[in-house]
Amino acid sequence: MLPWELLGEARTPDGAPMALTRRGNEYMILVDGKDLMSSRMFGSEEALVTIGCERARTMAAPTVLVGGLGMGFTLRAALRTLPAEARIVCAELMPAVVEWNHGPLGPLAGHPLRDPRVELAVGDVGALLRASPGRFDAILLDVDNGPSAFTLQSNAGLYGNAGLEMSRAALRPGGVYAVWSASDDRKFEHRLRHHGFRAVTHHVRARLSKGGPRHTIFTGLLPVAHGD
Ligand SMILES: C[S@@+](CC[C@H](N)C(=O)[O-])C[C@H]1O[C@@H](n2cnc3c(N)ncnc32)[C@H](O)[C@@H]1O
Repeated sequence: MLPWELLGEARTPDGAPMALTRRGNEYMILVDGKDLMSSRMFGSEEALVTIGCERARTMAAPTVLVGGLGMGFTLRAALRTLPAEARIVCAELMPAVVEWNHGPLGPLAGHPLRDPRVELAVGDVGALLRASPGRFDAILLDVDNGPSAFTLQSNAGLYGNAGLEMSRAALRPGGVYAVWSASDDRKFEHRLRHHGFRAVTHHVRARLSKGGPRHTIFTGLLPVAHGD
């Protein structure tokens, strides 16, 4: 079997080591030695878009937030799904991940950063949400392994009460909040309802082919107008 080759290294703001590795044509991003993203499984990263952009795809010029970039599969799916006049803001915390997407990771998802509809925001998606009241028709979050398994400890704030209020405020009426997760989380689903979202939990395949593991997509829909 081919050995894993180290292509790049960085440190998260928490001080955890992050690495980009390759074995043959398979790529992996690791944080603290654990898989964060593999190029072999991106079915659920694409499902985040299919499910989260069901409404945005019917609009003439929606604004959608994708956080984070990873290997660009979610961003590619958003570009394929959304119309020509869409604006897709992609928030990525790690400058190294952006650099890797301009380098060896670029071809994996067809260089999505080159599309003029993409506005790249290098920094914390939480800070971007806080600074963006009423900006988005959909918020698609895949920055962690789920609402209680974090890449960075500070990401915990995204899914708590204050984080959900912040995301709600960043959405337009009728907007959709969608979060990728490795597993179910009943407490998070209840919290979404508590903050005025119509919450649905979707189970999707991790790979595009049949079989294999399943992941979870949480969605929270806001009413279009008062009383909906
Ligand atoms: C699992 S990967 C995303 C995979 C991506 N959906 C794809 O299709 O390849 C998570 C990404 O979120 C980024 N990230 C983690 N915390 C973040 C934050 N607070 N703000 C922005 N990006 C963040 C990580 O650096 C990493 O690139």
